Amino acid sequence: MTEKRAQFATRLGVIATTVGSAVGLGNIWRFPFEAGVHGGGAFLLIDLFFIFIIGVPVVCAEFIIGRHTGLNVRGAFRVLAPGKPWGIVGYLGIIASILILSFYSVVAGWTLEYIYQSLTGFGGVSSIAGLHSQFDGFATSNWRPAMWTLIFLAINYFILARGVQKGIEKMSNIMMPLLFVILIVFCINSLRMPGAAEGLSFLFKPDFSQVTPSVMLGAMGQAFFSLSLGLGCLITYSSYFKQETPLLRTAGIMASLDTLVAILAGIIIFPAVFTFGMEPAAGPKLVFEILPSIFMRMPGSMLWSVLFFILLFLASLSSTISMSEITIAYMTDEFGFSRRKATGCNIVVAMVLGTLCALSFGMISDWTVCGLTLFNLFDYLSSNIILPIGGMIISVFVGWVLDRSVVRRELMTDDGSVRPWMIRLVTICLRYIAPACIGLVFLFGLGLW
Ligand code: PHE
Repeated sequence: MTEKRAQFATRLGVIATTVGSAVGLGNIWRFPFEAGVHGGGAFLLIDLFFIFIIGVPVVCAEFIIGRHTGLNVRGAFRVLAPGKPWGIVGYLGIIASILILSFYSVVAGWTLEYIYQSLTGFGGVSSIAGLHSQFDGFATSNWRPAMWTLIFLAINYFILARGVQKGIEKMSNIMMPLLFVILIVFCINSLRMPGAAEGLSFLFKPDFSQVTPSVMLGAMGQAFFSLSLGLGCLITYSSYFKQETPLLRTAGIMASLDTLVAILAGIIIFPAVFTFGMEPAAGPKLVFEILPSIFMRMPGSMLWSVLFFILLFLASLSSTISMSEITIAYMTDEFGFSRRKATGCNIVVAMVLGTLCALSFGMISDWTVCGLTLFNLFDYLSSNIILPIGGMIISVFVGWVLDRSVVRRELMTDDGSVRPWMIRLVTICLRYIAPACIGLVFLFGLGLW
């Protein structure tokens, strides 16, 4: 490679892009629905354990690999462990990124529909029951969700083909702060609803009688999904980091902001769920049925609704861009594809699979594997299986195989803010705690034991 690899321009840019990757539908759509399905408080607590005890160290591990090699997922392992099977993480990551991109784009397409619906006043519907059946009607209507999925992916193409710095960085710098502000406004609104106490106790009061191995597996999958972890997305992004970027601090900030957004989303959704007498376990449609009902009751409803769905759309975009970057970096680094060509290949595959996912709510809803529709299957396979396996391999690799001095050099910062005990702690997590926890959750959660 003779061409100098692109880099993120500023430190704020690094934080905004990694947070931009992490924060998205995973926090605002997936977290509330998964927490709703898995009983609330206990799910949140286990999710937090996985984010901070397992997630943060594994994020560091991905950062170390990425920045040290400056390469894509596959290339990084080729250089670090030539001829060894570790590179399988690279292939798993590429598969996972395409599966995720496919179903994720369907939900991102829903946000586009909802921008349109907000602008047109939801066709005059304002009753809760009306809004619910409107969503059901839309999601099962085949061509419309498929069309939005394709439009969303086409937008991805245009942004990605423009390159790393210009496209991604600028956008993240503006939209992330705005998203926080608007979420806080909605939280205040939800906290004043009659169902607030019940909603908050559902979200924050753990009921451990609800904890089953599959709840554990779900929470682990949610943690990995939400941190964009285990598929090499962060390896790819950190290959664009500068040598001065503080890895540990970046990982900590990213995990904290990511968690904050998920919790804010929970505080927005659950009070409304109980106020409107909805079922918390409604699944993927939960958030899309609840949000319009919330906005309808706010003064200036159309404005809030349009603004929110635009921000949600942008947050999804900064996440899908980061997943596509995995495959694009792989194809440009390893096969010398032009950026445009690599982007085109990635998006076309996602368009085919994404259309199938969109149709899996309607026309092909009876195409199921183990009782899961294609949409749910892609989600389950990637989040609950591939990402944790990837995370386990990455943690074992950095904990046991990678040269100690590399780990130390990458984690150390010049200003002395990283103490040796912090590095030791990360190493212990990577060597023992992460692999053991992931392994145990798999054994029980998948019923292997
Ligand atoms: N973390 C993103 C979200 O929460 C989703 C994502 C998963 C992005 C995997 C990149 C890779 O929405």
